[in-house]
Amino acid sequence: MSDPLHAAAPRPDFLTKPVLDGDLVTLRVVTAADIPALRPLWEEPECRRLTGSHPLPPEESAEVAEAKVAAWYTTRAGQDDRLDLAVVDRAGGLVVGEVVLNEWSPGNESCSFRIALVAAGRNRGLGTEATRLICGYGFEKLGLHRISLEVYAFNPRARRAYEKAGFVVEGVLRDALLWEGRWVDSTAMSILAAEWERHRGHPGTG
Ligand SMILES: CC(C)(COP(=O)(O)OP(=O)(O)OC[C@H]1O[C@@H](n2cnc3c(N)ncnc32)[C@H](O)[C@@H]1OP(=O)(O)O)[C@@H](O)C(=O)NCCC(=O)NCCS
Repeated sequence: MSDPLHAAAPRPDFLTKPVLDGDLVTLRVVTAADIPALRPLWEEPECRRLTGSHPLPPEESAEVAEAKVAAWYTTRAGQDDRLDLAVVDRAGGLVVGEVVLNEWSPGNESCSFRIALVAAGRNRGLGTEATRLICGYGFEKLGLHRISLEVYAFNPRARRAYEKAGFVVEGVLRDALLWEGRWVDSTAMSILAAEWERHRGHPGTG
């Protein structure tokens, strides 16, 4: 007999990849065709710094690295435990970044969130809207209880965008990143389902 106190929540349907329309952006599944548009996310030094992405192991050849990138983006549409969406700028129809719900914790009904936009997509409200769209989908359609992230202390723009979308600071992970010889703190943030229900990504008006 199953134990009702410990019954597992239904598995969220991560395999259905939605198209999410906002005023500024459309989110849809990311594919290998998006690699040229997204390449600055892993090649631009400033983006690598802001996301705390250390260099690849020097022993890995460019060909091997490129094959890994191709395999990664080719397989995103088939993932049943995460959501990797491209951010399309509705103004010009170009892909300007990606948003991800990953690290799904089945027992805890939670996911991590991350976002990165190329330079042309930044500072125009696209990141805030993309965050609201995917988090709304995570809470309202996937039934998540908690979505969390970490943001480095040298990235106040990202923190501001997250706060605008409803992320709440939980605490500081001290010296979480070593970047070019300096230790950098990381701030942990999250949104809970009950909070989302109140403000739906607009905490100032909730
Ligand atoms: C972080 C990111 C997703 C934010 O998206 P965005 O579209 O650029 O941000 P938005 O325009 O929606 O909002 C940015 C907010 O931060 C504010 N801001 C910009 N620079 C800032 C700074 N140096 N300090 C404080 N606030 C800042 C803006 O004024 C805006 O707030 P406002 O609407 O109240 O004026 C995007 O800039 C990005 O991908 N950057 C590169 C990669 C990255 O940092 N990823 C996140 C890793 S945690």
